[in-house]
Amino acid sequence: MMKIQFFDTTLRDGEQTPGVNFNTKEKVRIAQQLENWGIDAIEAGFPNSSIGDFEAVQAIAKALKKTTVVGLARCYKPDIDRAYEALSVAKFPQLHLFLATSDIHMEFKLKKTPEEVLAAIKEHVTYAKTKFEVVQFSPEDATRTRREFLLAAVQTAVDAGATIINVPDTVGYSNPTEYGAIFKYLIDNCQNIENVIFSPHCHDDLGMATANSLAAIENGARRVEGTINGIGERAGNTALEEVALALHVRKDFYQHETNIVLAETKRTSDLVSQLSGVSVPRNKAIIGANAYAHESGIHQDGVLKNPDTYEIITPSLVGVATNSLPLGKLSGRHAFTSRMEELGYQLSDEEMNLAFKKFKALADKKKQVTENDLHALIAGQSSEG
Ligand code: KIV
Ligand code: ZN
Repeated sequence: MMKIQFFDTTLRDGEQTPGVNFNTKEKVRIAQQLENWGIDAIEAGFPNSSIGDFEAVQAIAKALKKTTVVGLARCYKPDIDRAYEALSVAKFPQLHLFLATSDIHMEFKLKKTPEEVLAAIKEHVTYAKTKFEVVQFSPEDATRTRREFLLAAVQTAVDAGATIINVPDTVGYSNPTEYGAIFKYLIDNCQNIENVIFSPHCHDDLGMATANSLAAIENGARRVEGTINGIGERAGNTALEEVALALHVRKDFYQHETNIVLAETKRTSDLVSQLSGVSVPRNKAIIGANAYAHESGIHQDGVLKNPDTYEIITPSLVGVATNSLPLGKLSGRHAFTSRMEELGYQLSDEEMNLAFKKFKALADKKKQVTENDLHALIAGQSSEG
């Protein structure tokens, strides 16, 4: 089985979430937890963007002993120099160099011709290679780039020495069929890529970041970029925990392995949520509060008989203590009886029938019936008796 490398950019692209600002201590804490999670590479920041980012990248480079630490740089030599300085203490340093290649970015943002962009890629990848053994190049806005020009940009970067090609769906514009085809096109047509790794980097503007990343993997990508809880610019980035679980749960389909320690998933998500101040929606896949909660009577009955009926992920696999069967108006007798037993009540059939009727009447009026409600219900029933 082929191994898929995980590249986390929570501390760089994730920090671009409006309102999020990690201090150096928080960044080091997150980086250490990412290392516990088994991440292969951590993009620690953009060293030339601020003194704070420089110091955070340096501190992470010092703190991590097993994981590759990456710094971001534009095709601008002072960025490369500053990243080199910040990463000088890293055991495994890596540079992430990017330049936009779509017509709209080249014309309006960069004000450069396509020829100038190719020349800048060649010049800066070549320069970066004098300082870094491993250089990753990203043609920003790749999915809105004319295909032949994207190939020319990627070939230029590879010829100049880039060994990781990241293909950003910068504005979350692509879809799985198209994005997968872009990887196939680049891998089929690019020359001298025996030692080159291709990688997806997706944004979630149309809600397809995870699906797009998996499509890239199906089409030859061997590394995936994203963030924890999917935080990031606008609608965010690919949620890496989703990709990790998709690859694990559907190993039969994808046939790939990862270094991710799945049992650390919830702890990692909780830490990022706490330090970023961005709460995880209850219905979020893998790590949302409802991800292992079963409300309807039919589902609760199935789960009590065999959890596999409605659970494709055992909660403990990702570090969640247990599933839950919240009691509400759709809950059935099986879940109710089982909860009563858990609470220590031993009721006769007749008492249970009566209690269940009262519970259903109460549940019709409330969003959720709590343990206190159940105690009150039984207390009322005993006093009536
Ligand atoms: O989304 C993007 O294009 C980026 C690049 C810097 C890789 O984050
Ligand atoms: Zn991005």
